[in-house]
Amino acid sequence: MDGADHVRFRRALAPAMVTAKRMAAIRPVVQRIVDEAIDDLATSAQPADLHEQFAKPVSSAVIAELFGVPASARELLLDSAEALFRGDADHLEKATAPLYACMQELITRRRTEPAEDALGLLVGHPENFTDLELLVGAISVLLAGYDTAASMISHGAFVLLADLARFAPLREDPALIPGAVEEMVRLLGVGPGRMRVAVTDTEIAGTPIAAGDYVVVSIQGANHDPARFPDPGRLDAHRDHRRHLGWGFGPHRCVGQPLAQLELTVVFEALARRIPSLRLAVPIEDIELETDTPNTSPARLPVAWEEIRPSRPPLS
Ligand code: HEM
Repeated sequence: MDGADHVRFRRALAPAMVTAKRMAAIRPVVQRIVDEAIDDLATSAQPADLHEQFAKPVSSAVIAELFGVPASARELLLDSAEALFRGDADHLEKATAPLYACMQELITRRRTEPAEDALGLLVGHPENFTDLELLVGAISVLLAGYDTAASMISHGAFVLLADLARFAPLREDPALIPGAVEEMVRLLGVGPGRMRVAVTDTEIAGTPIAAGDYVVVSIQGANHDPARFPDPGRLDAHRDHRRHLGWGFGPHRCVGQPLAQLELTVVFEALARRIPSLRLAVPIEDIELETDTPNTSPARLPVAWEEIRPSRPPLS
């Protein structure tokens, strides 16, 4: 989407999803989801796969809660995201059809039973979006929000655990976590670049670009520019990270940014507090990164620990 259609949808989407009020309301929900996922790890065998057993269920549950998608449909979300970002393009339609059917049913229900979740707010919006607009819009956001956050949780955890000197300060001082999260987004970003089409003849650093040319804008290149970020490969929670491009730039800047920041902050705060002994269960070189996807992350992240602390201190 671009131009007027994009503005129309985006103006409705942001207030339905990520206002300060909605973020305050969803914070305890995200905390509960993260705590339950850590409780599940506590009862599982070691090593556990932090990507499969933690990042994916947490991220799918958060985005599903935001949109009021029932827990029973989360598997459909996982299957569709897998097909879209990592699967075989020929099977995409077959893999995503059940999610489309489920979301169409939800939209129909919201038309007669209004709800305060993001889908309900979009359905009741004065712009009167058609079912097709709602369906495509909601599914795009569900998939964009699920895979990016799941990958960032696993990739971020990998970077912290690959050198425990990066994880230790976050255990000591949770106030560093929002800065560390921002650094993960700068450092690890989403994929190698974003595709754009030039709308007018122009020139970038001496290279002529004609209207209609495809341009790949390298977010990673900008975020690793040493002139802007000294020693750019270092994760530095104290760094002035304003103006990094990990959330994009301009009219298509990430609409889910406040939710992703909240989710990642809650995740890393809870991991540092409840599993301070968390460590990689295999040598670093055995961790395989998936690179044939827009959202790079470890394919598996085997981890181990000494103890998992309860979510709340036990009553004395
Ligand atoms: C760490 C997690 C995330 C990262 C790093 C990230 C990054 C980005 C980036 C770089 C863009 C710009 C794309 C472009 O210009 O082509 C973008 C757009 C977008 N993101 Fe995110 N994102 C994250 C999480 C989320 C979440 C949780 C949601 C949903 C709740 C979301 C929804 C979207 C949507 C809908 C767009 C398209 C916006 C538009 O075209 O107007 N993202 N994201």
